[in-house]
Amino acid sequence: MTDAIVKPHERLAEALAGDLAEVNGLIRERMASEHAPRIPEVTAHLVEAGGKRLRPMLTLAAARMCGYDGRFHLNLAATVEFIHTATLLHDDVVDESSQRRGRPTANLLWDNKSSVLVGDYLFARSFQLMVETGNLRVLDILSNAAAVIAEGEVLQMTAAQDLSTDEAVYLQVIRGKTAALFSAATEVGGVIAGAPEAQIRALYTYGDALGIAFQIVDDLLDYGGNSAATGKNVGDDFRERKLTMPVIKAVALADDEERAFWRRVIEKGDQRDGDLDRALSLLAKHGTMEATRAEALDWAAKAKSAVMELPQSAIRDMLHDLADFVVERIS
Ligand code: IPE
Ligand code: IPE
Ligand code: MG
Ligand code: MG
Repeated sequence: MTDAIVKPHERLAEALAGDLAEVNGLIRERMASEHAPRIPEVTAHLVEAGGKRLRPMLTLAAARMCGYDGRFHLNLAATVEFIHTATLLHDDVVDESSQRRGRPTANLLWDNKSSVLVGDYLFARSFQLMVETGNLRVLDILSNAAAVIAEGEVLQMTAAQDLSTDEAVYLQVIRGKTAALFSAATEVGGVIAGAPEAQIRALYTYGDALGIAFQIVDDLLDYGGNSAATGKNVGDDFRERKLTMPVIKAVALADDEERAFWRRVIEKGDQRDGDLDRALSLLAKHGTMEATRAEALDWAAKAKSAVMELPQSAIRDMLHDLADFVVERIS
């Protein structure tokens, strides 16, 4: 493979290979439990399935880019992946999802109780990992992120089925449930490295914008993706009656008859065979998939300009390219 065809997250993984191997070791070590066999069963299922490890790579990249040569960035990267994995376990219960990382979800293979409780266990383990750094500022950032993620999920739950949900509420939801962990991941990398405040701010802004672009694209893939590539079900958001950006834009452009359709399927939850196809044809008619993609590109551009405020380095350029990649990704 030549450099030109290697994807930015793969290039980052290669540049950070040593650190990433240590983080994976730490994850394996800390996800175990001698006292409750269900825990390693569930965590091994999720961890063996992989995942892109995007968030821990962001922490490692930020710390390295800022010249860090200690070991606490490994703890922080593992913390971030544990928070991510815990939220996925809970999210798949809430969303009643049946596929994750190309495998049946834990809630399907075991049950909701196992997913909730093992998710709680991973949250607690993530706190232990970050406490070991002894750095109060990173504790503040990551504990705040955990709270904001939960707020985003709860806000999304109450905004679901509500056709009056607008793009401002949508942005608030995705900034909470997704971007908060991306921005915390990049910010703590800078903080642990003792970077100047202006660089820490740029890292935060990069993570925030990248996370927003990432979730907008995730929501696009929920309508236009291929479940073999994403490892998740297509149409979950429609079934869950979630107002994501492509739908919010289509509802805003709907005529009376289309509005009656959205009211029936989203507000009343009366969904029949063929309704997902009808929804897709309305998104196509109003060009809302393209318009949504354009907004993801705007956020990616914000991320790129923020990261360019950091000193030149190979890793900085990979983070720059990563912003384009999250918009182009198919998985
Ligand atoms: C999935 O995140 C959850 C969202 C924020 C959409 P990822 O797509 O990064 O999940 P994994 O870790 O690679 O499976
Ligand atoms: C992502 O939300 C989960 C969190 C960020 C907590 P979604 O429900 O939209 O993501 P997927 O599609 O299940 O990965
Ligand atoms: Mg989900
Ligand atoms: Mg969800």
